[in-house]
Amino acid sequence: MTDDVAEHAARFDEKASEYDDGDHSPEYRDCRDLVIEHAAVDGDDVVLDLGTGTGALALALASAADRVIGRDVSEGMLEQARKKAADDGIENVDFGRGRFREPNLPDDEDVDVIVSNFAMHHLSDAEKRDAIDVIAGLGPDRFVLGDVMLFGEADPEEPFYSPAVDDPATVGVLADALTDAGFALTAVERVHEQVGVLVAERATGDDHV
Ligand SMILES: C[S@@+](CC[C@H](N)C(=O)[O-])C[C@H]1O[C@@H](n2cnc3c(N)ncnc32)[C@H](O)[C@@H]1O
Repeated sequence: MTDDVAEHAARFDEKASEYDDGDHSPEYRDCRDLVIEHAAVDGDDVVLDLGTGTGALALALASAADRVIGRDVSEGMLEQARKKAADDGIENVDFGRGRFREPNLPDDEDVDVIVSNFAMHHLSDAEKRDAIDVIAGLGPDRFVLGDVMLFGEADPEEPFYSPAVDDPATVGVLADALTDAGFALTAVERVHEQVGVLVAERATGDDHV
């Protein structure tokens, strides 16, 4: 698995102009839709979408939120996202460079909801843990993670899992990292043996699981 952020950025720069024309798998679409649903955004919320790509989540959530911040390592993907926002007249979304472990937010930014879809599996498990610590440190009420994740054995034959560039974690590893970071896991959606959505809410008092 490539561990170089610049390599991932270059790879997605190349596919950016065709990313939205691609035939996304039903599992990708179900996952994306579940993340949007579980984000449960309301009108006062500031939302951060990490690994936003061409803005699938960010743009879908914009009308329900106060503001949405989309961050990605690929300038090519971000350009497409900005173009889609402009074409649709969406003005409360800010797309810019940032990575899971350094989201590049203004110092005083308060984020209420953090979402991510089909992006965190590009990180190693140790990097995912660091990223989840950074996410928890931003103090959101809720973090909704949709991604390639292993409910059972890894199967590289599946279309959304390419071992050369992907490194999906087991659901157990993600659950541990989330709870260690101070979240309570409030929902687990199994879309497929290798795709799921985890809903993590800020744990208070005895709410830890
Ligand atoms: C498969 S796309 C998913 C995009 C979007 N979330 C969606 O649901 O369509 C994965 C995205 O993750 C981004 N990415 C990869 N590594 C990243 C990192 N370390 N930090 C932030 N984004 C990253 C890529 O540039 C790419 O845009």
